[in-house]
Amino acid sequence: MKFFVDTADLDEIRDLAATGLVDGVTTNPSLIAKSGRNMLDAIAEICDVVPGPVSAEVTATDVDGMLAEADVLASVAANVAIKVPLTPDGLKTCKALRDRDIMVNVTLCFSAAQAILAAKAGATFISPFVGRLDDLGQRGLDLIEDIVEIYDAYPDFNTEVLVASIRGPAHVVEAARVGAHVSTLPPGVLRQLYQHPLTDKGLSAFLKDWEATGQSIIEQAEQRKDAAE
Ligand code: E4P
Repeated sequence: MKFFVDTADLDEIRDLAATGLVDGVTTNPSLIAKSGRNMLDAIAEICDVVPGPVSAEVTATDVDGMLAEADVLASVAANVAIKVPLTPDGLKTCKALRDRDIMVNVTLCFSAAQAILAAKAGATFISPFVGRLDDLGQRGLDLIEDIVEIYDAYPDFNTEVLVASIRGPAHVVEAARVGAHVSTLPPGVLRQLYQHPLTDKGLSAFLKDWEATGQSIIEQAEQRKDAAE
């Protein structure tokens, strides 16, 4: 499973990219607004830090407007994926961009029917929002399972399932279990994935026992090297 980070905060992106586990980034107009940055500058810097796909969302709602904005966004860097909403105009824009070999992330997907349309429009990624469905009392992960099953039945669908609106580690684990291709994680959720209290407890017990021996691996290596010379 690929991990994208769902933020426009450059400090967070730099910090998490250093883990070596970040395959891409997703942004949206709300995340750009939250960062307080100029959109084109922010996207350019993110693309410098992360070589994988960086989603930048259009804000026009008609095909001509979306295509004009997509041209600007795609010219920022070769790894920009244009994010379009799952609307009739969004999918027409998707098809036109895919014909030009530009990556497209179709966002705001809340049903399997919508995901089928996006795949037929040639989307590179479909973004079903699991957390927002959970908020309505539906199980968002059921939608992921449905989309993965449907896409698997049609080998000519090349669209990757990008699980969005993730709220915690359980969403990531369940998305992986059903074979989703990508999870886009808020920075805090990516950090949570590392955590288990037994890891901390076990590590501190090992370190305490080790300290009591007075040994040092590096010192022992130096002693062996000296002895061999
Ligand atoms: C995905 O690309 C979206 O930016 C994001 O996952 C939305 O998440 P939210 O429902 O927490 O706003």
